[in-house]
Amino acid sequence: MSIIEGLQDFVGDALALLTPVEASWQPTDLLPDLAGEGWRERLGAFREEASRLPAELLVVLVGNMVTEEALPNYAIALQRVARDATGTSETPWARWLRGWTAEENRHGDLLNAYLRLTGRVEMREVERTVQHLIRNGFSQGNEGDDYASLAYAAFQERATRLTHAKLGRLAAANGEGNLARICRKISADEARHEVFYTRVVGEVFERDPEGMILSYHATLRKLIAMPGARMADGRAPGLFEDYSAAVLRAGVYTTHDYAAVIRHLNTAWGVERRSLAGKAARAQDYICRQPERYELLAAEIECRALERAPARFSWLVDGLDR
Ligand SMILES: [Fe+2]
Ligand SMILES: [Fe+2]
Repeated sequence: MSIIEGLQDFVGDALALLTPVEASWQPTDLLPDLAGEGWRERLGAFREEASRLPAELLVVLVGNMVTEEALPNYAIALQRVARDATGTSETPWARWLRGWTAEENRHGDLLNAYLRLTGRVEMREVERTVQHLIRNGFSQGNEGDDYASLAYAAFQERATRLTHAKLGRLAAANGEGNLARICRKISADEARHEVFYTRVVGEVFERDPEGMILSYHATLRKLIAMPGARMADGRAPGLFEDYSAAVLRAGVYTTHDYAAVIRHLNTAWGVERRSLAGKAARAQDYICRQPERYELLAAEIECRALERAPARFSWLVDGLDR
């Protein structure tokens, strides 16, 4: 039995991190009620508030939504680890995968509905981008290495948690309270998911420290690919790079955040304190140096991204030089 397979009981205990459907928020709870008396006023007030969001933040939100909407890509990737043999298996891993997917599915739905109701977005362009992204697929770069997939998931859940939370704070600072609330709700889900993947990787570290450190090392060897890296609108090339530059410009997720995520995970997994030898010790040394390395590279990476020639995002009604 593989280590991953042997984690069924551990994963079973961690299933409590999923929220039962009856206790879950649904997108409807965070959007104006369009049924019944007064819907025009409610929608009008909602749109008035949404108009306060600067276009720079709206573009970031669209990119985040597109990334969330490509959920099938990530579910396929995690299926390789969780292995739900029938699609309805009752093993803890299979139940986690389906429960996680069902919770994540609300994120794309909610952001999609929010953006549509603002009236500020060319929804057809956004929808085309989502379809392209799902067709283009997703690779975290270490397929077949289950440990690396789990380390990647822990990293991404934390990164998306920070991204949604920061965007929410910026929305609030601009007087857009509805979006602030939406981002907080999504971010809280990401936080629970982050705890799951971080715990599971922590347990793999206990059972197979050498194997886990080599896989974590493989994950960090290259700049960690973002889930939406293969997004395209079928128009200008380089859409993802333009979106990434917009994220940096808006200060929603920076190289400093990237470094902070690695630093946090290193601490959570006790990377520094493990006594390892040979190849594993070299990997450990490399991993421990990464937060500082990215801190030092931050200015250079950001300069390069911000030097991108301006172009236009097809996503916004009013357009925006990207
Ligand atoms: Fe999400
Ligand atoms: Fe997530």
